Amino acid sequence: MDVMEAIKTRRSIRRYKSTPVEDEKVVQCLDAARWAPSAMNSQPWEFIVVKDPDLRKRLAEIHRYGRHMAQSPVVVVVLAKPVSRYWHGDAAVATQNLMLAAHSLGLGTCWMGVIDTEFEEPIKKLLGVPGDLRVLCTVSLGYPDESPSRTRIPLEEKVHWEKYGSKKKLGL
Ligand SMILES: Cc1cc2nc3c(=O)[nH]c(=O)nc-3n(C[C@H](O)[C@H](O)[C@H](O)COP(=O)(O)O)c2cc1C
Repeated sequence: MDVMEAIKTRRSIRRYKSTPVEDEKVVQCLDAARWAPSAMNSQPWEFIVVKDPDLRKRLAEIHRYGRHMAQSPVVVVVLAKPVSRYWHGDAAVATQNLMLAAHSLGLGTCWMGVIDTEFEEPIKKLLGVPGDLRVLCTVSLGYPDESPSRTRIPLEEKVHWEKYGSKKKLGL
């Protein structure tokens, strides 16, 4: 699958088959994550791979918008050390790499925002995350049991040429 196809066909998946995910595939996704760009190549990310059903159930109970973590065979918890002002973006692009790699391997994912929510501290406590690390998000991972479709705002509404407000027809 080429990059454009992966970007355009990835969708957030919230229903998963019970089929276990091979560790090799999980590792491939994490490997893709660590090749993301980061400010000064600081690579502030760390990951916790959660497969234990009880822990996933607890994560699903904590995160009001992430109930499907109880069902996905794997949850990746994305952590980062705030070593530079850009750490948030660094961890986010690593997460997108992980999700695109998963999609290219036939796996579905869904990003659940955690940073600065009331879910962050309970998740840190549950998983024993040290105080100097932040939780950007959790990502459910597994073989998809749905194929949702979603739309995007027309590109022309989002793009300006040379100066704000100057528009062009894009033919997309
Ligand atoms: C920062 C961020 C936070 C998100 N938080 C949640 C969440 O808490 N629960 C959830 O089910 N989806 C969450 N999502 C997934 C979005 O709802 C989803 O990406 C969006 O609706 C577009 O759908 P698509 O990913 O299928 O294209 C989040 C995505 C991002 C990038």
